[in-house]
Amino acid sequence: MDLSRFLTPITRALAAEQYGTEPPELYEPIRYSMSMGGKRIRPLLTLLGAHLYSDHWEQQALKPALAVEVFHNFTLLHDDIMDQAPLRRGQPTVHVKWNPNVAILSGDVMLVRAYELLFDIEPSLLREVLQRFSQTAAEVCEGQQLDMNFETRAQVSIAQYLDMIRLKTAVLLGFALELGARLGGASAADADHLRRFGVDIGLAFQLRDDLLDVYGDAATFGKRVGGDIVSDKKTYLLLTALESANEAQEATLRQWMGQNAPETAEAKVAAVTAVYDELSIRPRTEALINYYFQDALAHLDAVQAPADRKALLRGLALQLMEREN
Ligand code: IPE
Ligand code: IPE
Ligand code: MG
Ligand code: MG
Ligand code: MG
Repeated sequence: MDLSRFLTPITRALAAEQYGTEPPELYEPIRYSMSMGGKRIRPLLTLLGAHLYSDHWEQQALKPALAVEVFHNFTLLHDDIMDQAPLRRGQPTVHVKWNPNVAILSGDVMLVRAYELLFDIEPSLLREVLQRFSQTAAEVCEGQQLDMNFETRAQVSIAQYLDMIRLKTAVLLGFALELGARLGGASAADADHLRRFGVDIGLAFQLRDDLLDVYGDAATFGKRVGGDIVSDKKTYLLLTALESANEAQEATLRQWMGQNAPETAEAKVAAVTAVYDELSIRPRTEALINYYFQDALAHLDAVQAPADRKALLRGLALQLMEREN
């Protein structure tokens, strides 16, 4: 699926964006983070959402699409501090290259810039968009806090995990698509189906992210492989393993949880991954990813828009299910 017709304007507009100059410690990290690439899936969803209903998708939705991407990158600056992550998109994270305070404040300004990028939305839609954006942003923070809370909690259910990733990741994909659809002129019913398509894709997307965190190739993934295991993230992989482990396997998993010395990190990742392999956690996670993908497609089917335009969204979703980075 070639989406370059949509990706090119995003890349061009991001390259032209001015974030500010003085002091450089505030603005340089923003340029660094925004220019390192990334898949740009959220702005793509916004443009594809508008394109379902309008030929003027670029004028109507490009700046709002950038708003979502800047917001996403803001969450990454803070997430990488919280997760003590050394690498992102194959490069040192902002809190490592500069320091955590720089990453906090640059992130804060990015959140402000994200709002500014929404100012040009036509007045009849602006209030609703700001309200939905604010709600979504608060939900992302709620999900992030739950994710952190779960690190030190021994018991987390799969339902609690799914609710956590819905908040930290999926609602933003849902919002990105709903936003584009509304700007392009979708009915309320269509906008809701598209939001739910985006949320389903977002759940699958985070499951894939959790899978790649264990089984990805570090060079392609661009992040530290094994990071979730090291920090005791309660991922679907770990929770499913705990649920189906025999006594010995559970003992291995529980014995490593809470052991966070950097010297033993490698051994911890190897031991936990070995249990995952014994329990076929990888195909079981892939099955759940596929379940959400199918659920997403049912929502897309219900949308009243040209089939060839809907096919672009289906194609993007399929790429995301199979992504390696
Ligand atoms: C990373 O998002 C954070 C998650 C929700 C897993 P992406 O995988 O979209 O990151 P980039 O922007 O493509 O680097
Ligand atoms: C990301 O979850 C969620 C947000 C950034 C809001 P992760 O912590 O799994 O994302 P990565 O793996 O660092 O990209
Ligand atoms: Mg995180
Ligand atoms: Mg992280
Ligand atoms: Mg991750």
